[in-house]
Order: sequence, then structure tokens, then C-alpha cells
Amino acid sequence: MPNTKGQSFYVTTPIFYVNDAPHIGHAYTEVASDVLARWHRQRGEQSFLLTGTDEHGEKILRTASANSVSPQEWADKLVSEAWLPLLETIDIDNQDFIRTTEPRHEKNVQKFLQNLYDTGFIYRGEFEGNYCVGCEEYKTEADLMPGEGAFAGQPVCAIHSKPVEKLAETNYFFKLSEFEQPLLDFYAANPKFIQPESARNEVVSFVRRGLTDLSISRSKEKFDWGIDIPWDDSHITYVWFDALLNYITAIGYGEDSAEAKAKFESLWPATVQVVGKDILRFHAVIWPAMLMAAGLPPAKQIFGHGWLLVGGEKMSKSKLTGIAPSQITDTFGSDAFRYYFMKAIAFGQDGSFSWEDLSARYQAELANGFGNLASRVVAMIHRYFDGVLPTPGAASEDDLKVQSVAAAAVANADAAIDEVAIQDALIAVWTLVDELNNYITVQEPWVLAKDEAMRERLGTVLYTAAEGLRILATLMAPVTPKVAEKLWSTVGQGSLGDLAAQPLSAAANWGQLKAGQAIGELEPLFPRIETDATEAK
Ligand code: MSP
Repeated sequence: MPNTKGQSFYVTTPIFYVNDAPHIGHAYTEVASDVLARWHRQRGEQSFLLTGTDEHGEKILRTASANSVSPQEWADKLVSEAWLPLLETIDIDNQDFIRTTEPRHEKNVQKFLQNLYDTGFIYRGEFEGNYCVGCEEYKTEADLMPGEGAFAGQPVCAIHSKPVEKLAETNYFFKLSEFEQPLLDFYAANPKFIQPESARNEVVSFVRRGLTDLSISRSKEKFDWGIDIPWDDSHITYVWFDALLNYITAIGYGEDSAEAKAKFESLWPATVQVVGKDILRFHAVIWPAMLMAAGLPPAKQIFGHGWLLVGGEKMSKSKLTGIAPSQITDTFGSDAFRYYFMKAIAFGQDGSFSWEDLSARYQAELANGFGNLASRVVAMIHRYFDGVLPTPGAASEDDLKVQSVAAAAVANADAAIDEVAIQDALIAVWTLVDELNNYITVQEPWVLAKDEAMRERLGTVLYTAAEGLRILATLMAPVTPKVAEKLWSTVGQGSLGDLAAQPLSAAANWGQLKAGQAIGELEPLFPRIETDATEAK
């Protein structure tokens, strides 16, 4: 999504339930959002990544009770011991982290609700239906299936395979049905609002089938872990209605200060909201309708990504297929984690995780493809030119080809990011990795080095390769930030200053490294992994 003038790039992740610790499915959403945010920042744009935790609702309350602590204590523990550390583990550069139990959120959720109540979009009514606590969602008959085993004879939630609860209470309802046509009009006028295309089609046909009003409160007689309905404190707010509002309460919605207002203006509407496809309808139907009711514009884009599958099933803690992100990063590091999930899976489609695939890609693409290239080029500059970047002579056709492949890699990767096609961006970057490896093989600098008459040619080849590394460091900064920084401090820093200050748009401008500049040593970017470390998993 290109930016409109004056507006920052604002990307959000879903906020995560604190009933359990994160697994790699959660980390996947975080990494993708972070790569987008970092990419836009590397372009020189203002870029803001929001993430956080969803702490209210029956699910959290039950988990806390099962652990004999209050829900607030449970949430505090999970946030400090699991969810904040996750951001370190996978190297997320978020600009804010919102918790739905913070006053800045709770009070402005109430403001939002009061406004909708005052303008007639909320009314009191009788609710009768089914509720799945696992999903924290009201279910229609179509969402249920016959139970098996212990639940035979009962209808169960098709996602959690557990019985739903029959509810019959007086609740407050949001007039979602009034937004059927406005939503369809909005989708038609904004064809990229829901991406990918398959997700868009699913949502459009869902809305065409008709929308019913949404119960947005629960009676405190049943449980009370949530935000009070401002005009009726015998009810609390439905957890999804509360949670969706985090995207605006975090950036100043409802606050009166000039500073908060300016922040809100510069960030809303969000450029892209990344969500898993299981929560697409909340974000592409209910959320824009809530905003329309409040007179606010919907986000520019909702991107629904696929599921990480392990052994052919959606990975989840409850099905015991959950893998903690640190199980991977402890061995492979955060950069490899980030690269692997972005490169191996087309963003928007489901993808299978396997240790074999991860190890194979680490070895072939990162260690041999990228890491070795960098090590060899830097080592040869040290060996043949005492670590001083040589002055290039006239460029041959092969050298010019490297330049044009680099220019295409930058342009194609950048264009792919505008389509949220992160895998395609990496495929584009790898055309440069492959080209440089091929260039070194063909030019044989070690042969040139034996012939004093070829000294200038040797300098040209190594300068060309070093320029290629400079461009790769800039392109990889959003995806593998630690490794990119290492490579940059060796190759680019002395000539050009900080990596963060290298705009992607200028990355392909050839000849930026200063000949005569000393370059540093380079430790292996992707060290060899002992095979028993991977086999032990
Ligand atoms: N709290 C809600 C979101 C509220 S947003 C206003 C929620 N939380 S969650 O913790 O259950 O899930 C958060 C995200 O993790 C969702 O986008 C979900 O799709 C994603 N994933 C959970 N398991 C996943 C996989 N196995 N694979 C990919 N993503 C997965 O839903």
C-alpha cells in the first residue's frame, strides 16, 4: 500500500489472548507485520507498528481461576513473562504495545460505546443463542458440527471441537444489520480493502448473505471480567468489541490533548491491519461497521494471512502441536526465524512448518547462499587489498549486469511489499544473491590475483561484489536486521554512516562505497549448525 501524503505507515497485529504463552503461529503474524513496518521505515517513511494483548473475556477469566489467581494477576504474569519477551526473541521493533486493561484503552472504549448509544446504534434486546468461549464468539447453526467421543450427541464448535454454551440473556446490541449495504458499497469502492483476493471473496459473500445485529455486552451475573457498559454497570462489554478498539485507543482516540489528536490524525486510518484468516470477519465486517457508526474511516487494508500447519493441522497449543518460537531461535537465531517464515510461505496462504525444511533452507539459502557470499568477498578484500576497498576500473558487461540485476531486485522487492507479497520481495532479493554468487564463480578473483597485470580487474570485481553486499544489507535490514547490521558495519558503515539512514529508493544507485575506505572483518553471518542440535528437536 503506498502512503498518502503526510500520513505515516501504520501497521497493526492482532492483540493476543493472554490465556497461554505464544507459539510460532503468533510469532508469524508479528514478524510479517514487523517486516512491513521496517521496510517502510527503510524507505524513509514514518512507520508505526502496534501490537499488544487482549486481556478480558471469559477465556482469560477461566484460565486465571484454574490457576488460582485473579485475571489481572494472570494477565500481568503472561505479559511480562511471555508476550513481551516474545518481541525480543523474534526481534520486533514495535512503537507501542497496548494492553486492553490499561486505563487509556478502557476509558476510551467507554467513550466510543457511549457515543454509539447516544446516536442510536446500540439498543437493549433479548439474546438467545450459542457461544464458544474458545473463540469468544456467538455461533450460528452453520458454525457447529456434531460432537465426537466425549461430546457425542452435542453440537460442538467446528474450530475448537468443544460444546458451545447456550445463552439466554438481556444484552445490548449493535445495529450491525444497518451496515450491510454500506459495507458492500465500501468493498466495491475499495477493491484492495480486503486482501488477498480469496479472503475478499469470502467476506463479500458472507455479507451478501445478510448481517444480523451483534450482541455487544454480557450480563455480570455470568462473569465480570471486562469493561463496564458506561450507562449500565450490570453489563460488561463483549470482548471483541473491546479488543477491536485497541487499534484506535492506542493512538489517541478519545483523548483531548492536541498531541493525541495530532497522533491520531497522522496514523488513522491504518495502512494495513494484519490478521489471521480465522479472525478476518471480525476485522473486515464488524470493525469497519463500528468505525462507520462512529463516523470514522475504516482502515485502508485488512490482510488475512494463512495458517501455519504442523503435521497438516493448524498449529495450536490446545492440540499440543504448539512450538515455542524460542525452540527455533535458540538454535537458528532470530534472523533465520524471520527469514524462514517469510520466504517459505506465500503470505496469505497456509504453509507447513517442518524442522527439515527449516534446516535445509538455513543451510542452502542463508549459510551457503547469503552468508558465504559475504564472507568470501570480505575475506578476499582483506587477502588481496589488505582490507581496503579497491578502486574500480572500467566496467565490463558482466559488471554492468550485476548493476542491472541489483536495480531490478530493489525495484521488484519494493513493488512486492506494496502488495504485501513478502515472499515475492525475498525472491526478488535472492536474484541478487544468486547473481553475485554466479559473478564470483565466473570472474574467479583468486585466479586474477595470481596475475599482477590483472590487478585493476581484480579491484573492479571485488568493488562490484562489495557494492552488491551494500545493497543486500539494505534490502535485508527489514527481514534479518541483526545480520544486515553486521554486514553493514563491515562494508558500508565507514563509507556511508548508519544503515537506518540508507533509503531503499537510493539503494541501487551504483558506486556509493568509497574506494580507499578500510572495511572490517566479518564473522560468519549464519554459522554452521551442529546437526545433532536440529535432530534433537
Ligand atoms: N485476541 C484475538 C484477536 C483480537 S484482535 C482485535 C485473537 N487472539 S489469538 O491470540 O488467538 O490469535 C492471534 C493471532 O494469531 C490471530 O491472527 C491468529 O490467526 C494467529 N494465529 C494463531 N494460530 C496460528 C497459526 N497456527 N498460524 C498462523 N497464525 C495463527 O484471536
